Amino acid sequence: MCGIVGGVGKIDFRNYLINGLKKLDYRGYDSAGVAVLDHKHLFLKKMPGKVEELSACLPASLPGTVGIAHTRWATHGEPNERNAHPHISMKRKFALVHNGVIENFKAIKKDLFKHGYGFLSDTDSEIVVDLLEYNYHGDVLAAIKKTMGELEGSYACAIIHADEPNRLYFMKNASPLLLGKGEGANYLASDAGAMIGLTESFVDLEDGDYGYLEPDGYAIFADGNPVEREIVARSKDFYDDDLHGYPHYMIKEIHEIPSVLRRLLDNYLDDGFVFDKNMLSMIKMASSVHFLACGTSFYACKVGVKYFRSIGKRSGASIASEWAYDPYDIGENPFFIILSQSGETADLIKCQKVINDNNLPNLVVTNSKGSTLERKATFSSLLYAGVEVAVASTKSYLAQIAYLALLVASLKSDGRVEGDIRTLISSIEKILADDSKIKKLAYERKDATDAFYVGRGYDYLAALEGALKMKEVAYVHAEAYPGGELKHGPIALIQKGTLVVGYITDAEKEASSRNNFVELASRGADILVVSDEKYTREGDLLSFPAVPEYLGVGPSVVISQLLAYYLAEAKGLPIDKPRNLAKSVTVE
Ligand code: AGP
Repeated sequence: MCGIVGGVGKIDFRNYLINGLKKLDYRGYDSAGVAVLDHKHLFLKKMPGKVEELSACLPASLPGTVGIAHTRWATHGEPNERNAHPHISMKRKFALVHNGVIENFKAIKKDLFKHGYGFLSDTDSEIVVDLLEYNYHGDVLAAIKKTMGELEGSYACAIIHADEPNRLYFMKNASPLLLGKGEGANYLASDAGAMIGLTESFVDLEDGDYGYLEPDGYAIFADGNPVEREIVARSKDFYDDDLHGYPHYMIKEIHEIPSVLRRLLDNYLDDGFVFDKNMLSMIKMASSVHFLACGTSFYACKVGVKYFRSIGKRSGASIASEWAYDPYDIGENPFFIILSQSGETADLIKCQKVINDNNLPNLVVTNSKGSTLERKATFSSLLYAGVEVAVASTKSYLAQIAYLALLVASLKSDGRVEGDIRTLISSIEKILADDSKIKKLAYERKDATDAFYVGRGYDYLAALEGALKMKEVAYVHAEAYPGGELKHGPIALIQKGTLVVGYITDAEKEASSRNNFVELASRGADILVVSDEKYTREGDLLSFPAVPEYLGVGPSVVISQLLAYYLAEAKGLPIDKPRNLAKSVTVE
């Protein structure tokens, strides 16, 4: 779960590699490193910590003709200098950066050891650079091909050979890698964002591809034969990641929600719904719609399940990491919907492979055009949310919910959804226009160590997402429970001052939920009720302008995002990059 970047030709390596790593540190920020070859001299610097710390230790310029860099989310081996990339082969012929996990690294390490290789790090990646060197007999491409045949697992690698200062080699399997075509220079990276500004022409590599870049060209091979891959254009507008005056990406991205939802309406409504007709008829014919996702996207799926059930469609949702091991029978003719902001989540890639191997249709709903999941999907739809930098997913959750509402409305040709989403937008705008009360409530609770998020029906789904935000951003142990479930055990944990966030957006369940809150309050809980103004009662601390019930998760979740944000701010936490996390979970 790392990010790699590289280039060859006339390049200001210091700027390119460091800026590229900054764009990729959503993939991990445990350590960072660069290697640049200048004639025969290889400059190498790597260290634990964030890219900014590495940058502060680099000279003002990094002259050279070919360079690579890496930002790491530690899998094998703790985040220290030894385990940071780039790795150098024993005889110093090769330098390499790797994103992925080599599953058979122990066996290879043992073999290499027998051949006299010693190892400096605890990583699985180091064996790749030594194996390349061991397989090298004067032809780097042949060594790469042989090495790929021996590796099991996922990898995107950028490779420098000490005697070839005008070539940057690469190989890829099951980890993302793109080439960028420049002028007098060519680039590669895990994500187009790292190369944007230098080029808008990209080549998405396929699994099994390997080859090299030179300043004026490139060559791609698969199975020993040259292959052509399509050149695709990606506009730099999508990659705008300026903070625009906000102190953190998380709050900036929460404030972008209204414009994201408007953009979604523009893209999926144009004198009627704009969805692939073939896809709609496959969904209609399917015996069931099954959702797969992880984290926040999974909680959005759970909302989608309710939407589909509301139009009489059998529907369910599974956490990808579990379903991939146990792809149970979900009927004769299922249709899969995969939700993924990044389009690169490893567990989902594994699920999609099972689905595709069984020739089953799948729709990928993602924010990342050209991502691995999008490219392998039967159908794909974009969220048009713009780049989401903060590790905590915020605007993309709202875009996912609105997309699913539009999709389901299109299946029953119900045009009212547009007005409903516009009402949602204006409710959220009013929350954002003055969030001082949310901030005050959050700051007052900055010493909370535990929190329970409680609701019924859609409100339970809002609770799930609210609790996740509180955990990951504010480091508060937070659990979501359906109101009716509390008395089956968890209420034992409620004591004086335990924070409880409760949601009320639904007439039918209001009375039962309020009873739960009274039960909790009488045990001393600090109850913070979030309600739709239609149901607001005296004592509810946060009320939002009314929305249709099926969209109530929207404002409830925005308020929860703000609560988590301000609580984290009050605690002085690294909001955009919480500990141990990465934006894109590219290892299982
Ligand atoms: C959300 O705040 C999380 N950081 C995380 O749960 C995320 O939603 C999950 O990893 C799924 O990512 P994806 O949507 O890119 O597949």
